[in-house]
Amino acid sequence: MINIAVLGYGTVGSGVVEVINTNHVSINKRAGDEINIKYVLDLRDFPGDPVQEILVHDYEIIVNDPEVDIVVEVMGGIEPAYTFVKRALEAGKSVCTSNKALVAKHGPELMEIAEKQNINFLFEASCGGGIPIIRALNCSLTADEIDEVTGILNGTTNYMLYKMSTEGSAFDTVLKEAQGMGYAEADPTADVEGYDACRKIAILSSLAYGSFLNYEDIYTEGITKITPEDMAYAKELGMTIKLLATSRKIGEDSFYAMVAPFMIGPGNPLYSVNDVFNGIFVHGNVLGDAMFYGSGAGKLPTASAVVADVVDEAKHLHRNIMTNWTSHPLKLMDLDEVKGRYFVRVKDTTVEKVDEIFGKVQMIVHLEDSSDEFGFVTCEMAQKEYKEKIQNLEGKVLSMIRVKD
Ligand code: HSE
Repeated sequence: MINIAVLGYGTVGSGVVEVINTNHVSINKRAGDEINIKYVLDLRDFPGDPVQEILVHDYEIIVNDPEVDIVVEVMGGIEPAYTFVKRALEAGKSVCTSNKALVAKHGPELMEIAEKQNINFLFEASCGGGIPIIRALNCSLTADEIDEVTGILNGTTNYMLYKMSTEGSAFDTVLKEAQGMGYAEADPTADVEGYDACRKIAILSSLAYGSFLNYEDIYTEGITKITPEDMAYAKELGMTIKLLATSRKIGEDSFYAMVAPFMIGPGNPLYSVNDVFNGIFVHGNVLGDAMFYGSGAGKLPTASAVVADVVDEAKHLHRNIMTNWTSHPLKLMDLDEVKGRYFVRVKDTTVEKVDEIFGKVQMIVHLEDSSDEFGFVTCEMAQKEYKEKIQNLEGKVLSMIRVKD
């Protein structure tokens, strides 16, 4: 029998208990042993819920119990999660977590402890919910040099942008709707400002490129400035707007990463990732393109990924599953050097003036009922060059959105 302890009986924690109870026959078969939930830790009581029988309020009971083999951390936040996880690993217990904030900040240190102890620290549920992207990067795409990871990694904002695109609604309206549906938190800052996606791309990039990408180094822009007019322009161009978290290897030691809204066309595999779904595009030097798609958030999809980690840890109880992620810092190049195309909305100026500044621009778009403004798409240029040129239109720019092919 393999005993596990679940830290936190919130949405994901109760999902983990539910998944293990519902699928115990196939889970035990796959793990090669019986998975037994010995403890659930929470500060609250749950009268009437069968979990009450195994509920504890004191972490010491778990960390000091030699019968506990695996600790499942689904509390979220940095503390006390970090202290609990570190102590569990030091006590020789494997840990799995859904906590992206913890992994993005302390991942290398916690993996190092697990490696020294010959146990495991796994975090499949921290990125892309139920989509098995971490295991794919870590165990499947091992023949490749990965040179791009680009994802729609936040379900809440993808739902909001999809609604804005299909219904023409304003940001505030769709945010309220997303909160009503239970997708967005009461404080939606981490989602709409891109911070959640930023931590996820930091984790995926660290695994893909084998160094530690500090999320604080990633340029991050959310979706709060996207308007129904921007969406209307995207439609005119046959495109849509998505919040992309992207990182690329440009040269031997040259990487960039960013989170920002992008206009993308139907040729991009992420174009059709709609509603609350997540999608992750990966490019490898021998594989070429691969896409991972599915439920990126929610109680059961996230719990599914957590329990898959429990099964993996049960199968490798005293054997560390190596990762490519080292603590060596991954240095990012200056975004000003990165080349891209830009969609720009301007008012009170002329196409001739825009052509004079940017050279022949690629596309000009007018919306039917706004005669004093138009949009255009630039040719490819370094961000530095774009910034210099756009100064000539100071006071006339309504918005700028990056374009990705
Ligand atoms: N708030 C996150 C999202 C939850 O909307 O994708 C999953 O990490």
